[in-house]
Amino acid sequence: MAEQEPALRLDVPRAEALAYATDLIARAWESFDQARPGQPPVDEALRVALAAPIALGPTPVLQALQEAAVVLDHSLAQPRPRYFAFVASSGLEIAVLGDALAACHDVNLAVVSGAADLVEKQTIEWLGQAFGYPVATGTFSSGGTVSNMTALSAARERALPGSRNNGLSGRPCALYASADVHESVKRAAELLGIGRDHVRAIPIDANRRMRADACAAAIDADRAAGVAPIAVVATAGTTLTGAVDPLDALADVCEQRGVWLHVDGAYGLPAALVASHAPLFAGLARADSVTVDAHKWLFVPKACGVLMVREAEWLERAFTHDATYVPHEPGEQDSVDRTLEYSRPFRALKLWLALRVHGLAAFQAAIERNLSEARLFADLVKERPELELLGEPELSVVPFRHVATGRDLDVHNRALAAALRGDGRVYVSGADIDGTACLRPCFVNFRTSDDDVRVLRDVVLELGAKLA
Ligand SMILES: Cc1ncc(COP(=O)(O)O)c(C=O)c1O
Repeated sequence: MAEQEPALRLDVPRAEALAYATDLIARAWESFDQARPGQPPVDEALRVALAAPIALGPTPVLQALQEAAVVLDHSLAQPRPRYFAFVASSGLEIAVLGDALAACHDVNLAVVSGAADLVEKQTIEWLGQAFGYPVATGTFSSGGTVSNMTALSAARERALPGSRNNGLSGRPCALYASADVHESVKRAAELLGIGRDHVRAIPIDANRRMRADACAAAIDADRAAGVAPIAVVATAGTTLTGAVDPLDALADVCEQRGVWLHVDGAYGLPAALVASHAPLFAGLARADSVTVDAHKWLFVPKACGVLMVREAEWLERAFTHDATYVPHEPGEQDSVDRTLEYSRPFRALKLWLALRVHGLAAFQAAIERNLSEARLFADLVKERPELELLGEPELSVVPFRHVATGRDLDVHNRALAAALRGDGRVYVSGADIDGTACLRPCFVNFRTSDDDVRVLRDVVLELGAKLA
C-alpha cells in the first residue's frame, strides 16, 4: 500500500501564539479604560510597510501578530470612551471572546448546524421577550442594512405575491418613511426594484417624527393612482436626531390599509428596555418586522444585526428555494430559506454570551447611563452662549452647533468638525439638519463617563474659539 502523505499543517505554535494574542487583547482592553490624548498618525514607514507586495515565504507568527497590533493601534477604535461619532460599537469584552470562539469553530448558519441554530433561535426569543415583541422567527444579519433589506423582501412578497419570481413587471409600488429615514431603506428600495424615488418622504412634526396622518394620506393617494404600497418603515430612533416615529398610530394606519409595518430600530430600539423611554415605543408589538443592531446600543462588536418578524410565513415565502446543492430533508428548513445570506457566521453567540454573563439588567443600566449622558451634554451645551442646542435629545443623539459671531455658521461648524477629527482627543461626526451644519455626538458606549462628556464640550469650545 502506498504511504499516505501527511496532511498539510497550517497551524501555529499554539501556546506561544495564544499567549501573545491574549496579551495583545488585554493591553487593548486596558487602553480602552481611559481616553487617549490623541490618535497616532499613520506615518510614512507604516504606509510603506502596508504597500509591500505579497510574500511567498512565511513571517514568524509573533512578528506578524505584532504588526497586526500596530495596524490596530493606528486605526480608529470605536470602543474608546471618547468616540462619539456616528452610532458606534463598544466592543464588549465577553462578546470579543465570543467572536473568537465562533470564528474558531466557524459553524455555517446557512444550513442546519446543530446547537448553534438553537442558540440563534433562543437569542432572538430573548430579544423578543426583552422588547415585548411577539417574535415568530428571525435572523441574525450583518447589520441594519441587511436586516431592513430582508424585512422589505418579505413585505414585497406579501404585497405583490410572486414578485420574487416574476419581478415587478412594471407595476409601480412605494415605501413610506420619515424624511429622516436611514439610507439603507433607500438602498433596499433600489435593490428590490421599488426604486429609491418611490420611497415617499413623509412629512415630519416639530420633533422630527413621521406624521401618521400624512403617511395615511400618501398611501391612499398612491392606491388611488394605482401604486402598490409595499411597506411603511417607521424609524425607532433616527440616526440624525434619535426621533422615534409614532409606532402605535402608524400601526393603526397600516392595519386599516393592510400594509406591512417595518420598524427600523437599528440604533434606538434598546432604549425601549429603559422604563423612562419605553412609552416612546408603544405599538412595537404590532409591527410585522423589527430591526435592531446588537453592534450598536447592545454594545457587542460588529457585525451583529437582528431581524425579528411576527409571522414566519412571509420571510419564508420570500427566501425559500430548492438549490440542488443544498438538499433538504422533507419538512426541514435551512436558514437560507429565510435569510438573504448564504455563508453566515455564528453571530448570535457573542450576544448570547453577553446576555448570559451580564444579564439583561446590566444592559438596561448601561443604556440608562448613556441616556443620562445625553441629557448631561444637552445641559452643558445650554450653559454656554457659544453653543446652540438643536432640540432636546429624545434618545442619546444630541445635535448642537458652535456659534461664532461674524462667521457663516455652516462653514464654521463644518470646519470645526474637520478640526476635531484632526485633533483626535474626541471623535464626533458632523451632520446637516435641513441644511444646517451641526455636530451630532451619539452616546452609546458603556465605557463613557460623565467626565468624558464634559471633555467633549470643553474641546469643542476650545477648537471652536480658535476657528472663530
Ligand atoms: C436607523 C438605522 N438604520 C440602519 C442603519 C444601518 O445599519 P448597519 O450600518 O449596521 O448596516 C443604521 C446605521 O447607523 C441606522 O442608524
